Amino acid sequence: MSNDTPQIRQKINVCVFISGRGSNLKAILEACENPNFPARVSCIVSNKPDAGGLEYAQQYKIPFAVISHKDYTNKQDFEQGILDALTHEPIDLICLAGFMRILSPYFLTRWGDNIINIHPSLLPKYKGLDTHARAIEAGDAETGCTVHYVIPEMDAGEIILQRSIEITKNDTLTTLAQRLLGEEHFAYPEAIKAVVEQKFTQHYEPKLDLSLTNTTQGKQDMTDKEVLNGHKEMWASFTNTMKFGTLSIIVLLILMALFLL
Ligand code: GRF
Repeated sequence: MSNDTPQIRQKINVCVFISGRGSNLKAILEACENPNFPARVSCIVSNKPDAGGLEYAQQYKIPFAVISHKDYTNKQDFEQGILDALTHEPIDLICLAGFMRILSPYFLTRWGDNIINIHPSLLPKYKGLDTHARAIEAGDAETGCTVHYVIPEMDAGEIILQRSIEITKNDTLTTLAQRLLGEEHFAYPEAIKAVVEQKFTQHYEPKLDLSLTNTTQGKQDMTDKEVLNGHKEMWASFTNTMKFGTLSIIVLLILMALFLL
């Protein structure tokens, strides 16, 4: 195995935020069923009690929380309500999938750059709503979807990946949205994979490739158990050296005594 190979051993924990039908959530859940996919969905958050996507939480037996913005008098309390709910499950990455609330810096700074979103346009074109109508109206030859990191400025974070489709002259809002949704379902799992490979690789144990322990990278990736075993080996080799040294001195003393006699 080369040292450049991402050393993914364990799945990262993803929390998916939804507000509606949850077809992207379903695509992520299906991708996670593959043992080689580097993520699992550890929980789901919806700001709408009647979001269709919540049925997948039940189907896949994933813990979920409904935190309705309507139950709070201000945005900060609503976001604090979500933050509190998030403490119950392990989460490495938040995936917004049709989550229709804009998260404020209050929330975002608590998650650093570990929040991503899917947007139905080829950003930076058409930030915000009605992306398909705007693309058709502008006479664009293509449109697409973008998975990007979330920053306080809406739909403006670093792009992780995009997929595009042609806009044909027969396309209506419905046909375009439908075709693009199919692309989104490929894009989101691909983007999660890319994020894990970019950001999370070093958090996980390396594969048991002994050649790695001779490199800086290997040492950084050693688990506590491996470090402990290393210490034990050093101690064993030290005591062996001591035993050998003591024996040599005794033999030397005997030889000297015999010589003097
Ligand atoms: C998708 O088109 C996504 O790009 C946008 O909201 C829609 C969510 O659809 N952000 P679904 O709930 O995942 O089916």
